[in-house]
Amino acid sequence: MHSEFKFQVLTTDGEARRGEVSMPRGVIRTPAFMPVGTVGTVKAMYLDQVRETGADIILGNTYHLMLRPGPERVARLGGLHELIRWPHPILTDSGGFQVMSLSGLRKLDEKGVTFKSHLDGQLHFMSPERSIEIQGLLDSDIQMQLDECLALPAERKEIERAMEMSVRWAERCKVAFGNQPGKAMFGIVQGGDQPDLRVRSAEMLRALDLKGYAIGGLAVGEPQHVMLEMIETVNPHLPTEKPRYLMGVGTPDDILKSVARGIDMFDCVMPTRSGRHGLAFTRRGKVNIRNARHAEDMRPLDEESTCPAARDYSRAYLHHLVRSNEALGGMLLTWNNLHYYQELMSGIRKAIEEGRYADFMAETQENWQRGDL
Ligand code: GUN
Repeated sequence: MHSEFKFQVLTTDGEARRGEVSMPRGVIRTPAFMPVGTVGTVKAMYLDQVRETGADIILGNTYHLMLRPGPERVARLGGLHELIRWPHPILTDSGGFQVMSLSGLRKLDEKGVTFKSHLDGQLHFMSPERSIEIQGLLDSDIQMQLDECLALPAERKEIERAMEMSVRWAERCKVAFGNQPGKAMFGIVQGGDQPDLRVRSAEMLRALDLKGYAIGGLAVGEPQHVMLEMIETVNPHLPTEKPRYLMGVGTPDDILKSVARGIDMFDCVMPTRSGRHGLAFTRRGKVNIRNARHAEDMRPLDEESTCPAARDYSRAYLHHLVRSNEALGGMLLTWNNLHYYQELMSGIRKAIEEGRYADFMAETQENWQRGDL
């Protein structure tokens, strides 16, 4: 195994990149999709099963794990990998985004964020240094800088202030992280929907020579074309030899188009959360299994799938389970969705290797548009 954190671009096809992140806990084949395991569980899935769908890495959340069970406790229990029984790489988000979206944010200044726990209302403080300390106690392999993520639309002045402070926080996180050869700390490009601010953010973070770069503050209420324009604006200012991670994205279509613009890593709650709500992703597009048309349909979601959830269970049964709020309904649809996402990533990687990414993208989109089987 690799004792160092290393990224290598193996092949390119246009802007699309097929690469590999290597580190002591394993290799991440890129473009990669990272299932979200917020509180130390990919909801409604066994981690062995997550692994079998083809996931090389999962994501955990600093915000949730610091509140419960607490980072010091996780460290005493042997670290997150040991506790949850996932010996492969884990990336942790810093808390910047979750503080905005989940907690009653109380105060945010140069020092850090004061927020109210969504669990019991207690006040907590997190500085950039504490975020990195927590991610270290969790024993996270890829740690994210603390940043300030704004919802869009936002005032330009506000976007500029948050972006500049996020860069200063990146510097502090870099110092706090220090030198950990088998691990990495990624910076996060901010700048909202303002191209020049995005470029400045990328340039300043690039000067810090971090191990990887995320693009944050997207998929926060803006149309898809704005997100794609921001990726096109930012990528030429990021080093080609470092991984690029688009945070919190997205739909299968967002992923296809972002890979075409040079993104290497993704995470999103879409396959897991929407699975628990009865939405299935298939090669023929989205299927809402709650719809009455499935009530007496004994066909599976997709008889050609290699996923048992998609191939072996009838739509009628899935419909019944989801309508009855049975746990198994969410489990089967989550399994189907994570399997679909990983199949998509595997198809993407193969197409880049074979120099036919544009064709792969067109065929995949055509199949979605043809509609359900
Ligand atoms: N997840 C989705 N977007 C973001 C972001 O801008 N910052 C962080 N820390 N996490 C995210």
